[in-house]
Amino acid sequence: MLTKEQLLASVSPLKDLEFGLSLADLNFIRDIMIKEQHVSATVLLSSDNESYKQQLQAQIVEAFKQAGATDVHLRFRLLSDFERNEAARKVQESASAHEQNEQPSEPSVNVLDPQSGVRFIAIASGKGGVGKSTVTVNLAVALARLGKKVGLVDADIYGFSVPDMMGIEERPQLVDNRIIPVERFGVKVISMGFFVEENTPVIWRGPMLGKMLRNFFNEVEWGELDYILLDLPPGTGDVALDVHQMIPHSKEIIVTTPHATAAFVAARAGAMAIHTEHEIIGVVENMSYYACSKCGNKDYVFGRGGGGKLAEELHTKLLAQIPLGVPDNHVAEPDYSPSVYKADTETGLIYRDMAEQVIQQLEEKGSA
Ligand SMILES: Nc1ncnc2c1ncn2[C@@H]1O[C@H](COP(=O)(O)OP(=O)(O)O)[C@@H](O)[C@H]1O
Ligand SMILES: [Mg+2]
Repeated sequence: MLTKEQLLASVSPLKDLEFGLSLADLNFIRDIMIKEQHVSATVLLSSDNESYKQQLQAQIVEAFKQAGATDVHLRFRLLSDFERNEAARKVQESASAHEQNEQPSEPSVNVLDPQSGVRFIAIASGKGGVGKSTVTVNLAVALARLGKKVGLVDADIYGFSVPDMMGIEERPQLVDNRIIPVERFGVKVISMGFFVEENTPVIWRGPMLGKMLRNFFNEVEWGELDYILLDLPPGTGDVALDVHQMIPHSKEIIVTTPHATAAFVAARAGAMAIHTEHEIIGVVENMSYYACSKCGNKDYVFGRGGGGKLAEELHTKLLAQIPLGVPDNHVAEPDYSPSVYKADTETGLIYRDMAEQVIQQLEEKGSA
């Protein structure tokens, strides 16, 4: 059955022209009568402007019908002086309530400000498919396992894969108009994929992402953080460049496979980092070898040496060589994720070592 509350809720977005508050809060919609699906009501007007009245008429009828009314009859009348004073008083009350509310939520840190102490690490690669997202996710989790407060931004417009890789099914909540990141394995995750329709053409995503990224860092309630990792789009496109310029103090990790051509294209991503004066803190060589589970023999199926050579070229360190092999996780586990290696596995330990090196370089060297 249709209720008065439902009807009032349906018009909550409609605001009075002069007072700026919602018609429902101002008590400008009165005498609501409901008879089965037939609704009648009185609407108070702050102005006798005819087109305003017609616009309201259409909007209210539409809203009531959306709520389930089949036909709607509205009466309109101008505010009396007394009602006008009442409305003005409500506006004042609401303004002072707002001021009081705003105080506590206001000074949350702007993570883009170098003074915030948040360290950015962008993870880049020359091309897709080399394991950039896998490395980003596992480095983030490894840092969190070492007690760091970590955020992760999935900014790869060609394939937002981080939520799936971490087994995230929920979407971020909106509280007081601020976006609350989804937390998984102690990492606060924001994926552009949360906000972009799946079938949005890639050419539109780029410009949208640029705008969103900037807002994100301000509108996301990150809380206190030590690190934000960014999963960049592969290559040296506009988005990667945007991010480089937006976060000039970001450090960078380049991911490659051991194959010579992969390392060659990764070098371009490295060149861009250097061009934008991002310090490259290291190279990660992924899919480095296949270790035989029986004999432990290492088979270098994708070639050998690409990561080391790239690190040399970019005058940086080879942080890790990660073997082939997907995590041994099972869907039935409560914290199932397709791509996060467990802490005590061979690959899990390699990521732990990588995280320790990162901490050492960024914190203990004092180059915050
Ligand atoms: N070390 C690895 N061993 C086996 N498979 C891997 C490894 N690293 C990544 N993969 C797999 O390779 C594919 C591409 O990895 P992904 O992280 O999505 O790459 P990118 O982000 O560079 O496109 C994924 O299916 C991922 O699970
Ligand atoms: Mg990816």
